[in-house]
Amino acid sequence: MEEHEEKKHSEEHLGPARDYWWNDDYLELLARRLNLEYCQTLVDIGCGKGMMGFKFSKYMPAGATAYGVDFEPEYIEEARQRAQSLYNNNINYKFLVGNASDIPLPDNIADITLCQTLLIHVKDPQRVIQEMIRITKPGGWVLALEPNNLVPNLMFDRYGETDLDVESTLEVLEVKLRIEKGKKRLGEGFNSLGDVIPDLFLKAGLRDTKVWISDKALSIIPPYDSAETMLRVEQMISWIESEAMGYHYQDNLNYFMAGGGTKEKFDDYWQKLIYNKFNLKQKLQKGEYISAGGSLIYIVAGRKPRASEL
Ligand SMILES: C[S@@+](CC[C@H](N)C(=O)[O-])C[C@H]1O[C@@H](n2cnc3c(N)ncnc32)[C@H](O)[C@@H]1O
Repeated sequence: MEEHEEKKHSEEHLGPARDYWWNDDYLELLARRLNLEYCQTLVDIGCGKGMMGFKFSKYMPAGATAYGVDFEPEYIEEARQRAQSLYNNNINYKFLVGNASDIPLPDNIADITLCQTLLIHVKDPQRVIQEMIRITKPGGWVLALEPNNLVPNLMFDRYGETDLDVESTLEVLEVKLRIEKGKKRLGEGFNSLGDVIPDLFLKAGLRDTKVWISDKALSIIPPYDSAETMLRVEQMISWIESEAMGYHYQDNLNYFMAGGGTKEKFDDYWQKLIYNKFNLKQKLQKGEYISAGGSLIYIVAGRKPRASEL
């Protein structure tokens, strides 16, 4: 599948709960590490509804420009509207429709070029990184905020789960791993790419690569009395009500089989998933679901070399 034909990212994933994806004091720390107070131009590639540009621009100087680029015109339109209504008047927000493999911006324009959960969705992440480097000024930062999405499948929600048999945990892991590998084989990206971004940065010629990890846990703990928890619960219920957490039977079956699995095994797993979803929804509605919400999101920062360093 060509990148520009990629399926539209499930709307729910970019819903209001996404605004709580980072701890504000952690973003402040990142802003210091990346010297955002001197950043005149920031570009967010695969910006969706513009969230990271809005978050980071809080630390940029007055008069600075924050660009966002995404190939979904609807997301770009929503980002433009949010820029008008919600965010910092001292910043020029510019949102463009464009492909990450051919970014519609000139060379050497950005002090920082970033992406968040974009590289996991593209067929050729190395090409996108090269494009990000092209538009970054020599000496500037290229920043990738990308997860390992397999890790959360090994985490337990309730104490009782720690007694479940080894086979059930391994079965879930096998299915998830085959789905990830199959998706990659079909050229639709690799959901746990975060682990290997330093390798891709090195191959692309970036220097001084640093790797950090987000300290945000997406926990759900009763009573659900904060706006953040309520949004997260709402989001989970809407995922459950959509087909299999926002992803569809046919897509997952195709990935699973491309990853070496059989339809019989997948159907067996899918039945269990439907049953588990029903239980999970009931717990959420009764306010009984508890999760520590661990996840693994890397922040990988590499510097574009100056001519004198080449
Ligand atoms: C998981 S969403 C992340 C959105 C945003 N970065 C955020 O964290 O809220 C992935 C985004 O990448 C965009 N995208 C995927 N492939 C793209 C490509 N080749 N060029 C431009 N945008 C792309 C999708 O439209 C979607 O908005």
